[in-house]
Amino acid sequence: MCGIVGYVGQKNCREFVLEGLSRLEYRGYDSAGFVCIDQNNKHLSFAKEVGPVNRLKEALEKVDYDGTIGIGHTRWASHGPAEKKNAHPQFDCQKTLAVVHNGIIEGHNAIRKRLLQEGHWFDSITDTEVAAHLLGEAIAFHKSLKAAIASVLTQLKGAYALVYLIEKEPERLLLIRHKSPLVVGVGDSEMFVGSDPIVFIDRTNKVFFMPDDSYAIVSSNHIEAYDFQHNPIVPQIKIHDHLLEISNKQEYEHFMIKEIYEQKRAIENSILFFKKLNGQLIDYKSDDVIVPAYVTNNNKDLEGFWGQIGLDISHVKNLKNLDIIAAGTSWHAAYIGSYFFEGIANIPTTVQLASEHRYSKFFKKDNQLVLTISQSGETADTLESMRLVQKNDIPVVCITNVAASTMMREADGFLLMQAGVERSVASTKSFSTQIASLYWLAHRIAVEKGILSLQAMKEAEEQLSLVSEILECSIENYKWEIMEKDAPFYSTFERFIFLGRHISYPFALEAALKLKEISYIFAHGYPAGELKHGPIALVDEKTPVVIFSVLNDLIYEKLLSNAQEVKARKGHLVVFAFEGQDELISLAGRCFVFPRVAPLLAPLAMTGVMQFWIYQITKFLNRPIDMPRNLAKSVTIE
Ligand code: F6R
Repeated sequence: MCGIVGYVGQKNCREFVLEGLSRLEYRGYDSAGFVCIDQNNKHLSFAKEVGPVNRLKEALEKVDYDGTIGIGHTRWASHGPAEKKNAHPQFDCQKTLAVVHNGIIEGHNAIRKRLLQEGHWFDSITDTEVAAHLLGEAIAFHKSLKAAIASVLTQLKGAYALVYLIEKEPERLLLIRHKSPLVVGVGDSEMFVGSDPIVFIDRTNKVFFMPDDSYAIVSSNHIEAYDFQHNPIVPQIKIHDHLLEISNKQEYEHFMIKEIYEQKRAIENSILFFKKLNGQLIDYKSDDVIVPAYVTNNNKDLEGFWGQIGLDISHVKNLKNLDIIAAGTSWHAAYIGSYFFEGIANIPTTVQLASEHRYSKFFKKDNQLVLTISQSGETADTLESMRLVQKNDIPVVCITNVAASTMMREADGFLLMQAGVERSVASTKSFSTQIASLYWLAHRIAVEKGILSLQAMKEAEEQLSLVSEILECSIENYKWEIMEKDAPFYSTFERFIFLGRHISYPFALEAALKLKEISYIFAHGYPAGELKHGPIALVDEKTPVVIFSVLNDLIYEKLLSNAQEVKARKGHLVVFAFEGQDELISLAGRCFVFPRVAPLLAPLAMTGVMQFWIYQITKFLNRPIDMPRNLAKSVTIE
């Protein structure tokens, strides 16, 4: 969490830093700050504002300082509330050294205590401020910047990407990377710094991804980099041919609704892209789907589709165990996907929450493959889990939406979705594209294992296309009723229960997460069969119960009983059902009915309406839909 931007070169940096911060707002929007060495008086000049980057931009319109070296920050508050004093940059006592930080410095209280005893004074209650004081102190004591850094590194624990701007060093930025990402864009006598290449990708495609546990002293023409043992590193500059995808809202009021409507295209583009990787003849042209140059496996000499995604074909043929690790919405998609791998490819599959997996006992299994799923490819818990798995010599394939994300670079293989930039904090199109990608991959593995024919694979691709169509059309069917009747009615409730069984259970969890994160209405997602073991006590006329149906006769009957149990307690039932499920439909106070699809794709068919319904309820409540309170799009801390 938190976004970092920096510049050192020949031009004034303010405009670049502010634009970069806007592009990084997905990493947090509690406050923003900018500092440069003022070209007029050669001192640090800075501004900080609480709230999104636009507030900082407005504040800076009133002043005219600028300089050829500067840094900026957009914050997701971890230590200390979103107040000006806690915004970054943070400074040392003399205010001649500034730092911006992404991550968490562990044990900062003990460091602060010692520094206070030594006469330092602090302006904020952030963990970051100690990093400023530590370097300030070390610079005063040591002759070289390198020696000062060495002394700071012995004291810092936790996760940190730090960029320092030092008044006495007007031509060099100091960068330190431990666990949190930091990249340098190499320009023509200028260097750009960011938490993500998106910051500078329209200015240079030459990128130095700082290795973990390294630091660099960066001037306009030179990168001097070292590992944490102070051995020099030759910076590996990669050509990152990634087009800058700046998404704008166009005619839509929010990114979320735009992204809900982009789902059909996101799914189609992803499947088309996988088919291209798979060497399948594409029978129609799409300019959106170009296999980009950076999609190469991690320099392994492997052939065919599996080679393209970084896996050895014999490993896939002999695959016996699959584990999927993810967080949040991606975990819900993973859970849905586990039914695909078990049902279609006959592979026992476990699904794990990254934050739990990291600290659980690890068991190696026979012929195992681990999948990580992450829209951003940066989620700290998932990334650390992945590293843990790799340490045990088990290959990891990551399914992500962001090219060149840390996870994609570090995984043994990757399947890159083509959902396009997702800006709204609440995941929508990445969720549906993850489901579609997993469905496709389960079929592809089943073909490789000789369980399915190529014809069945082709039919699966057709089903995906059909269901993405249904996802979109159903929104149109229910649009006006939802906007005019449902939104005013359901926005009056204070709590909801979402129920599902089998493959619709993780879907119920996703619906509950979506409602609570954007509307702030309490929502409880639960397996319908467990209702009678406790949560049924909550059922009353003030708590709508939303049931998501399935296309499996046996499980449908069980769900029907659960719906009747709710009805018998005067609960208000909202039902998402399929054509022909008349008994369930007849119980509902409100019902959405979908065409029947391939049973395992039932959740995907319901996705659009579920998201649209929740979006409209939230819109009625006038919440900041794209930037809900306390959240960030990319969760880069534990
Ligand atoms: C909710 C949401 C989050 C993310 C989670 C993991 O709408 O978006 O729950 O799914 O933070 O993020 P990624 O997929 O980037 O690893």
